[in-house]
Amino acid sequence: MKKSEVVATILGKRRSTLTQTATAFAASNIALCKYWGKRDQELNIPLTSSLSISLGNKGATCTISAIAASQDHFLLNKQVMANDSSFTQRMSSFLDLFRPTPTNHFQLEMTLNIPLAAGLASSACGFAAVVLALNDFFAWKLNPRELSILARLGSGSACRSIFSGFVEWHAGVAADGMDSYAEPISANWPDLAIGLLIVSRQEKPLASRAAMERTVATSALYAAWPNKVNSDLKDLKVAIANHDFALLGKTAESNALHMHALMLSAWPPISYAIPDTLIAMQKIWSLRQQGLAIYFTQDAGPNLKLLFLKKDQAIIQAHFKNLEVVE
Ligand code: PMV
Repeated sequence: MKKSEVVATILGKRRSTLTQTATAFAASNIALCKYWGKRDQELNIPLTSSLSISLGNKGATCTISAIAASQDHFLLNKQVMANDSSFTQRMSSFLDLFRPTPTNHFQLEMTLNIPLAAGLASSACGFAAVVLALNDFFAWKLNPRELSILARLGSGSACRSIFSGFVEWHAGVAADGMDSYAEPISANWPDLAIGLLIVSRQEKPLASRAAMERTVATSALYAAWPNKVNSDLKDLKVAIANHDFALLGKTAESNALHMHALMLSAWPPISYAIPDTLIAMQKIWSLRQQGLAIYFTQDAGPNLKLLFLKKDQAIIQAHFKNLEVVE
């Protein structure tokens, strides 16, 4: 099935009423149980469910305006993007799905307050912000589930960035992916804190799409991944319901390490870690041995996200001087 068919199903008979301009913000999200592997490459339908937490005020703001021009105009962090940049190409083919006529063009301005393509889910909040802005721009009035499915067509993990707090993305079983959407988990855990430990701001060498495909195709360990995800999802939900930080931290860190182990066992092997990533991991393990409750998770990039409780924030910031704590 094509993306355009899914869009047609969701928009149905809705008219796209063009407004002049619309702006929306979407928070970045970090998976505590990762999405790694697709059952449908075109529609970004995952092989397994996943669970994330959103990053408060860290994310993407997107403004869409109608322009009288022969092509779209893209700005990222106030810089005009070249036609051949990967940002322009991904965004422009995403907008193609929603143009009322092929001659409708847009200016899309995106501002990110997180580093681009460094494993900090910039594409997740980016596509979610685009979908939220389009919903206002065209006055579609879609429900959150529909918005989540549309965001997924841009980037899988974007379906979780439609919501804030803890979010579960159901893998679903339908071929058209209509049951593959994210949903918030009602929970309030004010003591939980997340910090971004940035060891490199360089763009990642291999996109997550290619890395996932290679892992599923070549890692002999991949067969064990769905069971690991199922048991981690159960444990994370218990941890969230009971505010059991040790269980949450252990499960999230172990899940991330399993995902990276799948990549190391792919061929050619994939490692997003750089020496500084490993140095930081060793430091976290040693602090934990000394009794500090600190855990990490890592996505498709070298940076780590630290999980800890607010009561330990001062001591953790003393150990990691450049830690950016998420509000
Ligand atoms: O949505 P994508 O294609 O950017 O893939 C995201 C993959 C991970 O960030 C590594 C895991 C996840 O669940 O977010």
